[in-house]
Order: sequence, then C-alpha cells, then structure tokens
Amino acid sequence: MSSTQATTVSTAGMRIAILGAGKMGGILLQAFLSSGLFPREQVAATVAHEARALALREQFRVAVSTDNLQAAEQADVILLGVKPQQMTDLVSSISSVLHPGKVLISFAASVKTAAIEEAAGCNLAVIRAMPNTPAMLGAGATAICRGRFVAAPQLSLAEKIFSTVGRTVIVDEKHMDAVTGLSGSGPAFLYIIIEALAEAGVHVGLPRDVATLLAAQTTYGAAKMVLETGSHPALLKDEVTTPAGCTVDGILELEEGGARVTLIKAVKRATERARELAIK
Ligand SMILES: NC(=O)c1ccc[n+]([C@@H]2O[C@H](COP(=O)([O-])OP(=O)(O)OC[C@H]3O[C@@H](n4cnc5c(N)ncnc54)[C@H](OP(=O)(O)O)[C@@H]3O)[C@@H](O)[C@H]2O)c1
Repeated sequence: MSSTQATTVSTAGMRIAILGAGKMGGILLQAFLSSGLFPREQVAATVAHEARALALREQFRVAVSTDNLQAAEQADVILLGVKPQQMTDLVSSISSVLHPGKVLISFAASVKTAAIEEAAGCNLAVIRAMPNTPAMLGAGATAICRGRFVAAPQLSLAEKIFSTVGRTVIVDEKHMDAVTGLSGSGPAFLYIIIEALAEAGVHVGLPRDVATLLAAQTTYGAAKMVLETGSHPALLKDEVTTPAGCTVDGILELEEGGARVTLIKAVKRATERARELAIK
C-alpha cells in the first residue's frame, strides 16, 4: 500500500510535464489540478496534434503544446504517456535535455525501464507505473516499479502522483506483467461479472436497471469490505454463507461452473500476453 513517506514528499515549486496527454494523461492532468498536488502554473503537457493541444489548453488552462523538447526541458518530472511503440522514439527525441536531476515516469504498458534508460542516454531516474481505467473516478489501482537509478524520495514522489487517482502499490519490475494481467485487464473481467450478475437478476424477475444497480453496488461493497476490513475474502464469504442456506447453493453452482479456475486462467493468459508484448 501507499507508503507514509509519499505524503511527506513536497511538490512545492516542482514542474511536471505530461508528454502524450491522451486518455490516461488527461485523467492525471485533471487529477493534479483538482487535488491541488500541482497548481496550473507548474503543469505542462504535450500531444501530437495542434487541435487537441488547443482543446486541452481551453479545458484545463495549462500550457499544452506539441513541443516535447521544450516541455521536457522546463520540467523537473516528466510523465510519459504515449503509446508503448512510440515510447523509445519519444525519449530519444528529448534526450538532449535530460540529465540526472530530472525524473522520468512512464505509464505505458509493457515498456521496460531499461529500454527508457537506454533511450534517455544518461543515468537518470526512470519509474514505471501501471494505472487502470477506474483512475478516471479516483478509484484506480496503480502498481509502480523503479529503474536502476531511482532514489527512495523519487519513488515516493511517484506514489504521491498516482495517489491522486486511487491506490498505489510498489512492486519489483518482474511483476509488472502480472499487474497488467490482474489490475490492468481486471476491470474488463469484472464488468463481465457485473453484466452476468445483472443478467441473472433479470432472469429471476428483476427490472434490468434495478438488477444492474444491485450487481454493481454489491461488487463495489464486497471490494470495499475486503479493502477496509483487511479480512481474508474467504472469511468474508463464510460470513455470508449460512449453513443449509441460499448462498452455499449458489457457491456450489459457481464452483461446478469453474468460475474460480476460469478467472485464474484469464489473469494468467493476460499476463502471458503482456509478457509477449514487452518492449525491452
Ligand atoms: N487508457 C488506459 O486505461 C491505460 C491504462 C494503463 C496504461 N495506459 C498507457 O497509457 C498510454 C496512453 O494510452 P491512452 O489510452 O491514454 O492513449 P491515447 O488516448 O491515444 O493517448 C496518447 C496520446 O499521445 C499523444 N501523442 C502521440 N504521439 C505523440 C508525440 N510524438 N508527442 C507527444 N504526444 C504524442 C496523442 O496525441 P493526440 O491526442 O494529439 O493524437 C495522445 O494524446 C499507453 O502507453 C498505454 O499503454 C493506458
């Protein structure tokens, strides 16, 4: 979980640039401003198209351009948000303004810190983060790992940055593919579960809107119980399961249908795919 050190790192006067402020970069930009972690004048961003830069300038009233070199030169912390296959070219293109006083934080899937360090061409701190889409509502799960030249306060800074969009965990880089398979792809797996629960509700006679609300709120509530009680999920499940009651009959059906094994296989397969796509 988020270290207490993260709360003590100061971002006062620190300038941050988001190179590639698309969907995820835009979510972070919005979160920096609304959380107050970085005031407008400390934030810059870049995109590929001038029209999008203009739209973002109007939306957020921060400096947004298509000039990566200038944005990188003026920033202390550089967030890298382009597509994975564009990452090393982007970093090479700004290498002339990089030095060990700056921090690079990539949130691209599958791009290893070593590839970014090599493209940067100097011994600067490179951090990799893997957020997920619920970041949009401040309910994201982000795993963060360090490259070779990262000091503890720089890692704490990354935690603080991603804490604006949800919970963070620090992992070794060898676990990043597993993170991609679990929390990166996980929302899609859970939407299918919510959809199926809602469908089930309709099947047993509930109106669709009621069934969908109950399915989603129940999923949310169960997740909140796990996070906030700290109890093992199996223990929480036992608390809902009365001897000879309804739940245990439902659980038997789930087990017979292989729900548990299927979910394990889904995460395993997504992890393997992330490994196949890795940019080293
Ligand atoms: N979306 C997610 O849920 C999610 C989750 C975890 C990680 N990620 C990672 O986040 C990264 C971005 O994903 P996304 O979904 O946010 O994609 P996206 O919306 O397509 O954002 C990419 C952004 O990069 C900009 N761009 C392209 N080339 C550029 C260049 N040379 N210089 C500056 N900006 C450039 C694009 O500009 P224009 O808008 O002008 O085309 C666009 O705004 C990916 O690496 C992905 O793996 C995404």
